[in-house]
Amino acid sequence: MTIAPQEFPAGPWLLRTEHTVYAVRLADGGRWAELAAWGPHGAETGPPVLPATRRTHFITPADAAPAEYLPYGLRPFTGADLTVRRPGGERGLWWTFTGAGGDEDRTLRLEFTDEPTGLRVALHYAAVPGTDVILRWAEFTNLGAEELHLENLDSAAVNVPVRAGARLTYLAGQWAQEFQRHQLDLVRGRFEMASTQGTPGHAYAPWLAVQDAAETDGPAYGLALEWSGNWHITTDAEPGGAVRIRAGRVPHEGAVLLRPGGALTTPRLACAFSPGGLDGLSRVWHRYERQLAGDRLHRTRKVLYNSWEATGFDVQAGAQLELARIAAGMGVELFVVDDGWFTGRLDEKGGLGDWQPDPAAFPAGFDDFIAQVRATGMDFGLWVEPEAVSPASRLYAEHPDWVYRTEGRTATLVREQLLLDLGRPDVQDFVIGTLDTLLGGHDISYLKWDMNRPPTERGRPGAGPAGEQDLDAAHVAGYLRVLDHLRARHPQVTVEGCAGGGARIEHATLARTDVVWPSDNTAPLDRLAIQYGYLHAHAPHTMSSWVTDAPGVFDPRPRSLAFRFVLAAAGVLGIGADLRHWSAGQRAEAAAWVARYKHLREVIHHGQARLLGAPTDATCGVQYDAPGGGRTVVAAWSTGRLDGAPLVPGRPARLRLRGLDPAARYRDTATGTEYSGAHLLHYGLPLAWTATYDADLIELLDPTGR
Ligand code: DGJ
Repeated sequence: MTIAPQEFPAGPWLLRTEHTVYAVRLADGGRWAELAAWGPHGAETGPPVLPATRRTHFITPADAAPAEYLPYGLRPFTGADLTVRRPGGERGLWWTFTGAGGDEDRTLRLEFTDEPTGLRVALHYAAVPGTDVILRWAEFTNLGAEELHLENLDSAAVNVPVRAGARLTYLAGQWAQEFQRHQLDLVRGRFEMASTQGTPGHAYAPWLAVQDAAETDGPAYGLALEWSGNWHITTDAEPGGAVRIRAGRVPHEGAVLLRPGGALTTPRLACAFSPGGLDGLSRVWHRYERQLAGDRLHRTRKVLYNSWEATGFDVQAGAQLELARIAAGMGVELFVVDDGWFTGRLDEKGGLGDWQPDPAAFPAGFDDFIAQVRATGMDFGLWVEPEAVSPASRLYAEHPDWVYRTEGRTATLVREQLLLDLGRPDVQDFVIGTLDTLLGGHDISYLKWDMNRPPTERGRPGAGPAGEQDLDAAHVAGYLRVLDHLRARHPQVTVEGCAGGGARIEHATLARTDVVWPSDNTAPLDRLAIQYGYLHAHAPHTMSSWVTDAPGVFDPRPRSLAFRFVLAAAGVLGIGADLRHWSAGQRAEAAAWVARYKHLREVIHHGQARLLGAPTDATCGVQYDAPGGGRTVVAAWSTGRLDGAPLVPGRPARLRLRGLDPAARYRDTATGTEYSGAHLLHYGLPLAWTATYDADLIELLDPTGR
């Protein structure tokens, strides 16, 4: 059926968030939807922001349009969001608009259908209440008689009007250097970030911020893909001067098969806007992640001790209890035994998959050990890597078919281990059964879920032609199913997400865990850069961080114990040092920091966070303002030389605070110094750094108690 263009509602349709509006309208007689406006309330009143001239040379109008989503065929040259291969090999779709629906201001569904193939594509929009985030995704239904292979199946495309190129801010790195903040100005051409590692990966976070390169203090647009498998975010600076970003999953097999009658939904792309630049944008994301946490947001993130850096694989009850008693004496609330507690786990080579406590490590029994930890007053937590299997394990001997493999090919070992095919329901059931046994059989209130290798020979022999499988999506679904099960069946258990550091941090994981581990690198100045990048995209209450021994394995630059405590206290404080070697003085200082953090964590986890300066500055910090005002916490660090060189007399460093009421008064609760808001905004908080005073955690209270 062909609907005449005049029958179409042309829009615009509006989505409203707390402070922003996103407006979409139909163009070209209903061949596609395009952006009308995205910005603060009211921005929709006026002509469309990226008007298509309708007169194009050597490209089609669709190629030049700020299109919300278009298939290859209709948009042949400048980048399509959907590419569909038909049985004969033809790839083009030329669809028409077939309907709109949704709740005013909150949700929108725009439907397009390609009659020859019978493919119906619904573009979905949903404004997230209480945030400035709009979720976008696509839904495909094959109403035709042919098998269709979706070669590109992006979640959405996003158009940002820029004048002279886009300033892109992104988070990139590698293992132990995750979340390094990078920026580039894209004037023409393409910039792509992606992962085919079956996780978001260490190399790039699935997150991007876009600003006008000519106005980098100006508005910021943000994207974050909610997908824990393969992905890409591709930015094109188009000839017409706009920037268009496509984001979505990347199927392992190169295409996803959509059979007649079949339907498929893409991951959600979260789209955020702030008029307040990157600083404001970070708070939009923080707020959104507080929403994702739901009622678990207000679960106290306890101060933990994790024994990994102290004892490695050599887990022995005696040494663990020694560490536990020292930690408890410092005020630590939770003791986590990391890798090495289970049978066969003497080193990287063995044990994964055989999740029974090693009797040699716990001669009096595992429950007796847990009881002794609990007798110190702390909770008990345990590390697991549910998707992993060691070739030498009993699990692998019994179920060699449960790992990803390609017939006739030798499996590559990464960290001496293989990866279970968590897309298989029987493997999911095994993992669920294992976790139920551990959590139901022992007094465990914290679980750290790790994942230390990507899939390499990724196949499932015997399950049909590879081109008909979708192993990446199946793995993601299995992973989320197990996490959902944990939350439903063991709601009292706090879950930490980890993947060899920060390789699997995105909104699907953050919605199902309580904290995540951004990096294995806890060296003070390295960690400062990691946390700085991390907090651009993610909220402090999710950021697990440990104080470890200096100089540590990564970065020998010296920093005080105070520096390391203030740094870990900027998120969710933990300790990972070998406390057995700490002096009485160090333990006493640590106890004081733990107590201070407990006093302030409510503000750190639930306040509005602002990044003050950058780790490349001599002084930088994070400001946290309590909801409702009246109480501000500042974590501040000196990044300069601390080598004992004589200090020349001079003024103290100053860290300018932001967002305070200029007329309000603030008293430093440690020193009693009083400031006006105007002083803190204008001159900044004085910090008289010395070679031994290189960090502080400052509480500012309104002395009038307002
Ligand atoms: C990688 C994690 O990131 C570390 O914290 C630790 O749990 C090790 N794995 C244990 O194997």
